[in-house]
Amino acid sequence: MPTIHVTNRAGEASTLEAESGISVMENLRDNDYEVEAICGGSCSCATCHVYVDADWLAKLPAQEEDERDLVSDEPTYQPNSRLSCQIEMTDALDGLKLTIAPEA
Ligand code: FES
Repeated sequence: MPTIHVTNRAGEASTLEAESGISVMENLRDNDYEVEAICGGSCSCATCHVYVDADWLAKLPAQEEDERDLVSDEPTYQPNSRLSCQIEMTDALDGLKLTIAPEA
């Protein structure tokens, strides 16, 4: 089972036993992290915004234009911002490290 290292909005780090084949957002939401995911993963709300650790950015699937447009409009946008609903969890992402972005 792959793991995700998560830092929550309070700055607390923990490790999540993740499920492959569903999105990173679904893994976070289903384990009661602070990810509202209002749109349910259809790339239209940005409430699943996370900051991906620099070492992992290049290993993720490329960002589609709609994700890039939406997340770059966030006031809390950073160059390592991603929408976690647009990242499918796979065994290859075992050890993924991210921080949940502040509420916009
Ligand atoms: S859950 Fe809405 S954009 Fe990701």
